[in-house]
Amino acid sequence: MGKIFAISNMKGGVGKTMTAVSLGAGLARQGKSVLCIDADAQRSLTLSLGVTLPEKLPVTLATLLTRVVNEQDISPGEGIIRHGDGLDLLPANNTLAGLEVALAGLIGREGVLRRYVDGVRPLYDYVVVDCAPSLNLLTINALAACDGAGKRLSGHGRG
Ligand SMILES: Nc1ncnc2c1ncn2[C@@H]1O[C@H](COP(=O)(O)OP(=O)(O)O)[C@@H](O)[C@H]1O
Ligand SMILES: [Mg+2]
Repeated sequence: MGKIFAISNMKGGVGKTMTAVSLGAGLARQGKSVLCIDADAQRSLTLSLGVTLPEKLPVTLATLLTRVVNEQDISPGEGIIRHGDGLDLLPANNTLAGLEVALAGLIGREGVLRRYVDGVRPLYDYVVVDCAPSLNLLTINALAACDGAGKRLSGHGRG
């Protein structure tokens, strides 16, 4: 059963996406199966892992979270791009920004990503979620989906 990491910080440009890519690639290199989820509508993780035209993707995180909300089926592996060497990607594109608005009025809106992740975590050793630089609803979903929280204070070691 996979362990879930969310990489989150309110500030942009501090290395969240780089951490998600490096952590995912490092774990994959150790032989672990890893799913990286791009939960940032700026889709930096998606671009970093080699998707050049994310707006043309038929299925992204937004598609699948909409399915979860509507209680529609998701096929095994649907929307997941096999990057190779044990590293998979669930990509994002601009539609994720619209999803944020759509989720806002829902009861249980903070648990939608958790419901998706619960379906895929048996297939992976690790799931790494790259968050946007804000405490938006998707970031709250990522924090609710992960297994615990720690903090790293720059220049002050680990807390
Ligand atoms: N450890 C690092 N050393 C040097 N440059 C880094 C490092 N981590 C990230 N960067 C660079 O900093 C910039 C912002 O990193 P990124 O991971 O996109 O930040 P965030 O996701 O927090 O917005 C990128 O250009 C990235 O290549
Ligand atoms: Mg980023």
